[in-house]
Amino acid sequence: MSTPALEVDHVTKSFRLHHQKTNSIKQLVAGRGKTRFDEFTALTDVTFDVREGEVFGVIGQNGSGKSTLLKCMAGILKPSSGSVRVHRRMSALLELGAGFHPELSGRENVFLNAAILGMSRRDIAARFDEIVQFSGLESFIDAPVKTYSSGMYVRLAFAVAINVDPRLLIVDEILAVGDVTFQQRCLEKFVEFRADGRTIVLVTHDLGSVRNMCDRAIWLKHGAVSGEGDPSELVDAYTEMMLGENLRGADGSIRRGSGEIQVMSVEMHVNGRAEPVKRFRTGDDVRLVLSYRAERSVPRPVVGIEIEHLGGTTLSAPCTRDVGLVPAQLSGEGVVTVDLSRVALLPGTYDLHTVLTDFNRSHVYDHLQTALRFDVMSGKPYEVGGLVTLRPEWSVH
Ligand SMILES: Nc1ncnc2c1ncn2[C@@H]1O[C@H](COP(=O)(O)OP(=O)(O)OP(=O)(O)O)[C@@H](O)[C@H]1O
Ligand SMILES: [Mg+2]
Repeated sequence: MSTPALEVDHVTKSFRLHHQKTNSIKQLVAGRGKTRFDEFTALTDVTFDVREGEVFGVIGQNGSGKSTLLKCMAGILKPSSGSVRVHRRMSALLELGAGFHPELSGRENVFLNAAILGMSRRDIAARFDEIVQFSGLESFIDAPVKTYSSGMYVRLAFAVAINVDPRLLIVDEILAVGDVTFQQRCLEKFVEFRADGRTIVLVTHDLGSVRNMCDRAIWLKHGAVSGEGDPSELVDAYTEMMLGENLRGADGSIRRGSGEIQVMSVEMHVNGRAEPVKRFRTGDDVRLVLSYRAERSVPRPVVGIEIEHLGGTTLSAPCTRDVGLVPAQLSGEGVVTVDLSRVALLPGTYDLHTVLTDFNRSHVYDHLQTALRFDVMSGKPYEVGGLVTLRPEWSVH
């Protein structure tokens, strides 16, 4: 086991929230309008180590304490109790606004910022061109940074932070601000750092990068550590929790159609198991069971499903007519099963719609929008981009 680059030891951080209680002149005169404060605990007993050479991710909802934690690590905030021990030369890239002086030019800020991060003037001068080149801001370097866009700002801050030769780099949510080209360069830089045995602590809402790049991660929930370990598993658990919260109380199904025959329920079974579920992994065998009820005999119905990514893309919309399965008529109650083997969907959330039509698919008996919403978690094959896997077989010569 390698040595820790950083140790966070039972860190609790509370903020005082001030309330100005000067509601009336009467109160003011009576002296009851004094400033009072409540305490808000942003971090509760947070403990973990970041090992030398690893890329360590911090995930959690807005307001869960990620930035507060990073500020404690960077020494910008002092924990109310507990301690942070930094064992390597650190450079931190925190929220926008920290570090740069708005009235000064980009050039002046580079010198100022790098000096704060512990570089000598000579070293900075030697690295200056490289810093500016990485930032891509050659033509703006003599303009005051208050005229920069947030993306430009972050480019410069990042360029400085990585060029002061840190052994431990702490980065709070920057990938979101830069454009795609810059994000790519940051990622390349992280890979380079990692190959070099440097340590990176990364806060990001980009869960794909957490899966991709991080060796380990923690999940903060209301300021406490809710999970620690394998990034992929943690991201799965986190997404599951987030989706559960979003879906609670929302009855997403919308029905339309003439109604002679309707889908009453849809169940999903995975890998032959009896209990219905709403999630599975890429590569699992999935069986959908659609229960229908027909008020009268319906001739030559066509049963279809549509699978739509939560982002709005329909990925597949097969129906019984595609395979020449057209019953002469359906009446009463029954089930239609659809077996989907080794499902190629990649991690994400999907909606399943059901469609019952006449043979021409022009008359809609029943269209149940979001009959089922389900999640796909990472499985086999493991891929990070896109919505479906084509099960590629690679070779490099
Ligand atoms: N200086 C402060 N004074 C009072 N409360 C604060 C202060 N800084 C942060 N907080 C509170 O602490 C909590 C955690 O904030 P923090 O910025 O660490 O969250 P975060 O996880 O970084 O969120 P986001 O994903 O939105 O960046 C929030 O409720 C925030 O309001
Ligand atoms: Mg934050």
